[in-house]
Amino acid sequence: MDNNLTVYNEYVDDYTSYELVPQEKSILAEFKECWNKTTMLDIGVGTGRTSYTFSAIVKDYTGIDYSPKMIETCKAVIGEGESVRFDLQDATDLSQYQDKQFDFILFSMNGICSVGHDDRVKILSEVCKVMDDDGFFFFSTHSLDTFPDHFPFNIQLPAFDKIKPLHWAYQWWKLFLRKRRIKKLYKDTDVKEICNKPWAILATGDHDFKIQIYHIKPEYQVKQLEDAGFEVVSVYDEKAKLRDPLKEKINEYMYFLCKKKGR
Ligand SMILES: C[S@@+](CC[C@H](N)C(=O)[O-])C[C@H]1O[C@@H](n2cnc3c(N)ncnc32)[C@H](O)[C@@H]1O
Repeated sequence: MDNNLTVYNEYVDDYTSYELVPQEKSILAEFKECWNKTTMLDIGVGTGRTSYTFSAIVKDYTGIDYSPKMIETCKAVIGEGESVRFDLQDATDLSQYQDKQFDFILFSMNGICSVGHDDRVKILSEVCKVMDDDGFFFFSTHSLDTFPDHFPFNIQLPAFDKIKPLHWAYQWWKLFLRKRRIKKLYKDTDVKEICNKPWAILATGDHDFKIQIYHIKPEYQVKQLEDAGFEVVSVYDEKAKLRDPLKEKINEYMYFLCKKKGR
């Protein structure tokens, strides 16, 4: 996991989207009456995909990332002002912020999965500390339920697209190579052993196989959050459909909306 920061610095140009994903759009709508009164901390902002929307609508916006290149891009593209700032900051240490400072804390696009187990637990405890007692934490994570059936080595190659044949051929070939390489990587893996774990660190082939990604069982994510002082309000799947992490297998990445325990 130690190399992940170097990888993010190297792959800044891959982050070109400024659109919210469906789960974030749902939250945007759910809290529509509150944004103009909200003090927000946006963790792992990357090049500012979520900053683009949220910095324009909240009362006060702080975006942080541990990658200097990502923060540089945010400052250049989104810009700072009296109520919008970007800090170079690792989420494992939020001591520069006041306790209970933020009403809404976001850690989008599985950014929390870039760190190992102990750092993840540390981040959750830091987030709980700087979140207002009536605040919300919204973050996404990879699910270990994707392994092995929905893991990239089992990915479906795209069907022929007669409207864009060249684009299709390029995508097909890229995916085929990735699938072949990842199959080789996991050829001697004890699948059962991984499936029996509450969490595991796995390479998915992202960023040219350089990045390591934490995957967690949905039911264990609930426990991990409870141990850190949170209570799960709702869980969304990739299509922003509500799911039950204690009763269902969720074989795709998930967004958790949490509040402080007992609030
Ligand atoms: C998968 S990218 C997502 C970027 C952006 N949120 C988006 O959705 O486009 C994860 C981001 O989290 C940042 N990140 C990972 N671990 C972090 C940590 N411990 N503290 C701060 N930022 C972190 C990375 O530098 C990277 O920019």
